[in-house]
Amino acid sequence: MDDKLNVWIICGGRSAEHDVSLESARSIASALDRRKYDVHFITITREGKWVGCPALEASAASALKGPEQGRNVSSSPPSPVWDGLRGLVGKASFPGIEKAPVDGDGRMVVFPVLHGPYGEDGTIQGLLEMLDIPYVGSGVLGSALAMDKAKAKEVLFHKGIPVPRWVSFKPGNGERHNGRIPEIVATVIGYPCFVKPANLGSSIGITKVKRPEELEEAIRLARRYDTKILIEEAIDGREIECSVLGNDHPMASVPGEIVPAEEFYDYDAKYADPGTELIVPAELSEEHVERVRHLAIRAFRVLECCCMARVDVFIEKGTGRIIVNELNTIPGFTEVSMYPKLWEASGMPYSQLLDRLIELGLERHEERKGLAVDRDESP
Ligand SMILES: Nc1ncnc2c1ncn2[C@@H]1O[C@H](COP(=O)(O)OP(=O)(O)O)[C@@H](O)[C@H]1O
Ligand SMILES: [Mg+2]
Repeated sequence: MDDKLNVWIICGGRSAEHDVSLESARSIASALDRRKYDVHFITITREGKWVGCPALEASAASALKGPEQGRNVSSSPPSPVWDGLRGLVGKASFPGIEKAPVDGDGRMVVFPVLHGPYGEDGTIQGLLEMLDIPYVGSGVLGSALAMDKAKAKEVLFHKGIPVPRWVSFKPGNGERHNGRIPEIVATVIGYPCFVKPANLGSSIGITKVKRPEELEEAIRLARRYDTKILIEEAIDGREIECSVLGNDHPMASVPGEIVPAEEFYDYDAKYADPGTELIVPAELSEEHVERVRHLAIRAFRVLECCCMARVDVFIEKGTGRIIVNELNTIPGFTEVSMYPKLWEASGMPYSQLLDRLIELGLERHEERKGLAVDRDESP
């Protein structure tokens, strides 16, 4: 029996960021050390079906070199919905779901590589908690809080962490703000402003609004993706990102800078525009580097994240103020993504970073397993 750890990568997902997730998953799969891990894939289709994904497995296999080539990549044919899930619940006793033991000695960890709703937002984390399966990344609360840009801002603001001025509302549900939004934006937020769906990523559904007459259309676009909308003041500043890693004692990487060629860091700038520059490490004063890293760790703790998150901030022109934009609990993991790049620049190569993330996921699971589940109060 081999003693490799089974790593289940779950990717795709019911999200507008489906394709980005597949890219991230491919790149993680090809960097995982096959001497330590057996790698398996589950792809969640846009419709929400769970399937085995031979295409990803093949591309991961071709990324392997030498005697390891293809050997440890499971070659299950395209499988019906429950195949992947049955593998996952092999250890759990769920009436009605047939058990299917995983390969090897059954030790396993799930690496959810899902961006956006139904994956980065606490939903899959909740499922894995219920199944008592260790996984990489933040738990239910941290994932859900960081995903909801409005809730995250509320909590960060409450703890004294600078965030842009914002207003959030649900268009058309009769909330207090409704009908008054143009007035609130004009008086409290100001123009230009950013209109966003509360829960998404990759800049999908986001508009930079420069004039009041563009507001309605921007809200309509954001509303396509979420029932809750956020409008925030535009910060005129540099976009700085910092990678955080750890559970109880998180560490921060060197910061990096994004310089989009376009007006802001929109979907094309992120994934298509060769003009977008990622500067690693960012050219900042030592004082700013330390302040960014310190603030990134504070924000990570305040939102109860663990394992990993990429913390994105602005450094405001003129004032030098550091303002938190958002935290991504499952950041991009493609070849060119900031999260692993920043760790590389901080002295931790990609495959070592993956080892550490897996370790952190296992550690947290172990720790929670030790918690009491009865009312016996003797120590
Ligand atoms: N308040 C803001 N001020 C200035 N630029 C912003 C602001 N909010 C968003 N942006 C721009 O829009 C991009 C995407 O917004 P963000 O909130 O990070 O959403 P996503 O989760 O899709 O990455 C940012 O990287 C930045 O370029
Ligand atoms: Mg962002």
